[in-house]
Amino acid sequence: MEPVYLDMDPGHDDALALLVALACLPVQGVTVAAGNQTVDKTLRNARRVIDAAGVPALALRQGAEHPLFRPLVTAGSVHGTSGLDGYDFHDLHPMQESSEPALGWLRSQMAGNREPATWIATAPLTNVASFILGHPDLLGRIGMISLMGGALQGGNITECAEFNFYVDPDAAAIVLGSGIPIRMVGLDVTHKALLSQSGIQRFRQLKGKVGEMLYGLFTFFADHEPDATDQGVPIHDVLAVAAASHPEFFTWLSADLTVERCDPHCRGQVQIVKGTALGSLQVATDIDTGRFFAWMWDVLEGQYGS
Ligand code: RIB
Ligand code: CA
Repeated sequence: MEPVYLDMDPGHDDALALLVALACLPVQGVTVAAGNQTVDKTLRNARRVIDAAGVPALALRQGAEHPLFRPLVTAGSVHGTSGLDGYDFHDLHPMQESSEPALGWLRSQMAGNREPATWIATAPLTNVASFILGHPDLLGRIGMISLMGGALQGGNITECAEFNFYVDPDAAAIVLGSGIPIRMVGLDVTHKALLSQSGIQRFRQLKGKVGEMLYGLFTFFADHEPDATDQGVPIHDVLAVAAASHPEFFTWLSADLTVERCDPHCRGQVQIVKGTALGSLQVATDIDTGRFFAWMWDVLEGQYGS
């Protein structure tokens, strides 16, 4: 499989998506953006999860501190002050992260890869849009973007917009209109894939720190994610990993989409552009949750099982 890059804003569901991706895909590195929390916190949280996964040498780079053209909106009520509340990481040492900016690292990576990369994006799309705008000569080095964001119907941060697209609607519009092949996984399907309380308990069967970490994190997340129900809590970002590696789990619609950027009442809302479908943008409209969760647990228990 082609090289894989992750752009994230950990964030509870990003953390689970990161562990799943590390267990099943040739991940070359992680870049972080501001979103669920400020970028200093999403960077620290990515480090925490990478270390818990046992791959401390994996490349990790800091990206955007705020959206392209707007002030940052974070989600502390959902992910907590740290961005990963619910588990005490006992940070053993201050972080010594690379000072190389994410975009410079991504440019050297994409230019140097022998084959086009798969990019999995689970944060507001600021880093991805900045790369597209700054390096048009390298767009052919991106084979596909699998992103969690948007919704054909409804919203979560407002009644008509999903958080990632709301935070940086300009970036979302740039990415969706780039012509790069995209698999978009929005709330239409992430609200169907709910992790149950028994699933949260099942994390405890995983070995060492990973099991207890996920149990603590998702016990917190289930209490704070606004779209959690008594059936379970949506694990949004993990579905972007699934869409990259197993598109057959989903039903796809080929469509061209716009993202509302001007009207403050529906900022971030997605609209289908009638009559056009360049074919580069696929939107998930349904998911086989049985196959998805069987795959997720197989990957997690295969890599982190006791
Ligand atoms: O709306 C859900 C998305 O917003 C997920 O990526 C979650 O991590 C938050 O960033
Ligand atoms: Ca996220």
